Amino acid sequence: MKNDILRLLKENKDGYVSGGNICESFGVSRTAIWKCINQLKEEGYEIESVPKHGYKLLSCPDVLTHEEVYRELETDKIGRNIVHFDTVDSTNEKAKNLAVAAEHGTVVISEEQTIGKGRLGRSFVSPKNKGIWMSIILKPDIEPMKVSLITQIGAAAVNKALINMGIESFIKWPNDIIINNKKVCGILTEMSCELTMVNFVVLGIGINVNVDKEDFGEEIGNVATSLKLETKKKIDRKKLLAYILNNFEKLYNDYVDRDDIVKPISICKERSILLGKEIQVIKKGQAYKAKALDIEENGSLVVQYEHGEIEELISGEVSIRGKEGYV
Ligand code: BTN
Repeated sequence: MKNDILRLLKENKDGYVSGGNICESFGVSRTAIWKCINQLKEEGYEIESVPKHGYKLLSCPDVLTHEEVYRELETDKIGRNIVHFDTVDSTNEKAKNLAVAAEHGTVVISEEQTIGKGRLGRSFVSPKNKGIWMSIILKPDIEPMKVSLITQIGAAAVNKALINMGIESFIKWPNDIIINNKKVCGILTEMSCELTMVNFVVLGIGINVNVDKEDFGEEIGNVATSLKLETKKKIDRKKLLAYILNNFEKLYNDYVDRDDIVKPISICKERSILLGKEIQVIKKGQAYKAKALDIEENGSLVVQYEHGEIEELISGEVSIRGKEGYV
């Protein structure tokens, strides 16, 4: 009911919607409408009420709810169900708890994470209303071995979405998006599987959209940045989220339905910050100098060590020298 009223107000943004009109449309009393309007106001919607004219929607809050995003979605399944929280420990943890009963494509999103998780047990700074902290629940009918490529599909989708927003970025294999040698986005893929089948995958994507310098603190601020810090303007999170989900669904369906990984891999190669460069490969805490040569169709990174030995890395940690140290 509340969302139906919101929809009506959005459809008539330039004018007033009379109380009588709403009563007729939904067959409810004026008191019920008044309660819904108050709830919407509490959620951050600015609504003007003028006697004899009715209600007018003046502005919407900057939140990533289904109501605020679905108009921009061109997807069939991805993001059609958005489970939205104001605050959670980690959207990946929430998504894993919801996954068995959830529909494929459900997106768990939170305005803030109190224990955001990065790879290799690291934490991920996720301040309120300043980023996109989300986990997409996927149920692909593929072998567990093929799941790692979904991370790169995610990275390609984010890179493409940033281009849609007019922002240039690079991909640091296998799961980071980089601008100006600093990280703006990290991806953490987790899965539940049996030997030959996948139960579910949780693709966690964290994007520093409007994060301010002081949110990072000094140490992280040396290696991380946000879209707002780089472009010097506030970025529309709703639009960016919709672009990511729209791009992701196309690339994901090509891969899962037709085994076609050509597009994501070519994006990851074209936009790679590593290829052709001297990098460090970190193994068991030890750093080895190498040159990044190629990204294979199976998603592995081909590197050549100082003494000429060539290795295909399937996963793992690599770093490249940025302005203020390795990223
Ligand atoms: C990394 O950079 O090491 C990966 C970071 C992944 C962060 C995202 S934010 C949404 C989702 N929930 C989490 O706790 N982590 C991922």
